[in-house]
Amino acid sequence: MTPQLTCIECEAQFAVTEILYNCTKCDGLLEARYGASGKSAADLKALWRNRRTSNAPLDNSGVWRYREMIPFLDDEAHAVTLREGNTPLLPARRAAEYGGLDRLEFKHQGFNPTGSFKDNGMTCGVAQAVRLGRPRVACVSTGNTSASMAAYASAAGIEPLIFIPNGNIAYGKLAQALEYGARTFQVDANFDQILALVRVLAEKIGIYLLNSINPFRIEGQKTIVIEMLDQRDWVAPDWIVLPGGNLGNTSAFGKALRELHALGFIEKMPRVAVVQAEGSAPFYDFIREGGEFRPIGHPETLATAIKIGDPVSWPKALRVIEDTRGVVEKVTEQEIADAKAVIGLCGIGCEPASAATLAGIKKLRAAGVMRADEDVVAVLTGHVLKDPDYIYKYHTGQLETPTGVKIAANFGNKPQVVPNDADTIARLIG
Ligand code: F0G
Repeated sequence: MTPQLTCIECEAQFAVTEILYNCTKCDGLLEARYGASGKSAADLKALWRNRRTSNAPLDNSGVWRYREMIPFLDDEAHAVTLREGNTPLLPARRAAEYGGLDRLEFKHQGFNPTGSFKDNGMTCGVAQAVRLGRPRVACVSTGNTSASMAAYASAAGIEPLIFIPNGNIAYGKLAQALEYGARTFQVDANFDQILALVRVLAEKIGIYLLNSINPFRIEGQKTIVIEMLDQRDWVAPDWIVLPGGNLGNTSAFGKALRELHALGFIEKMPRVAVVQAEGSAPFYDFIREGGEFRPIGHPETLATAIKIGDPVSWPKALRVIEDTRGVVEKVTEQEIADAKAVIGLCGIGCEPASAATLAGIKKLRAAGVMRADEDVVAVLTGHVLKDPDYIYKYHTGQLETPTGVKIAANFGNKPQVVPNDADTIARLIG
């Protein structure tokens, strides 16, 4: 079967070369579907392992190495790679103890070329833009998507246009977008409002949209799970924990797990735990209360990456929760800040949204949902240097919630000002 875009609601099918973000019949979300590759799981495992010894650019990529799982291109020459993926799986004893687990591993997506998991998806989204011959691409972003899109579009020679909430993204991310040459528009509106605006603009002036509603980005993000299982010699963990914002990554993880399970790569389906920030937790409310999905009009959190009130991918994410016996948790600003500092103390570090994972694990353990002896992988989505302002404020006791409540520096590490005098400093060190 040639690759198709298929509506997840009504199963309507469209060619992968059509520029569509929703089903034209029922407005449902679209996903890429393929026929069988003709190779067994055992053969593919061996092939992928073998590619790690190759110097070919696509084999070096932790996304395109697994290209049999994402075969939407008709010509591999369209792929644009910055050698994304290849992110480590790091055991973290102190974080495990903090969370109440015997052991815990972090799959750290901050090791990507632009410092977040968005690169896994963007290499695919931009490849599709190249294939379609689109001269411009655009996204609305809380920061990481725009940094990533700017890099990949510029690498491909395509013009990147980015739209961000004015004053509400971390400087590390804005700086990246500027450096990678994106035309940058700061809009006085929140993420959800800007997404609606950009969809109108895309239609009006024919720009290719690279938000996570783009099904090809989701294909690339599947490889986070594929690579993680490859690194674990295909032993599936009991749980995969990740932060939830627009819920694109949750959708990608669920699709990867469904496909790998159906193809016989794994026997056990890991449970997926999605963690949201308390002030931006519409998916948590929806899973907890049922009924209609109700967006949040004014999402709030210092973890600006996940400050999203109307996540477009919730219908896909709902299926992931159902298919994997998954759970959704929410955590406070204080819980995120402390968990983040503990991840730092492991010598690992991450940006605030990523730390929601460890904070969520601690809560799920306390509630008895997760057992101490379970095998847990938490996905750290962004690099520690994405948001240095947050870090400095936390460690110096100056961090406040959006409503002005002080965050306690429970793991604070304040720099000391000292005189230029060896005796005094020696005394201080002790
Ligand atoms: N963690 C980080 C560091 C992120 O940047 C994002 C999303 C998420 C988690 C949540 O992932 O949206 O797939 O549920 N950032 C987007 C952006 C929205 O524009 O960079 P999600």
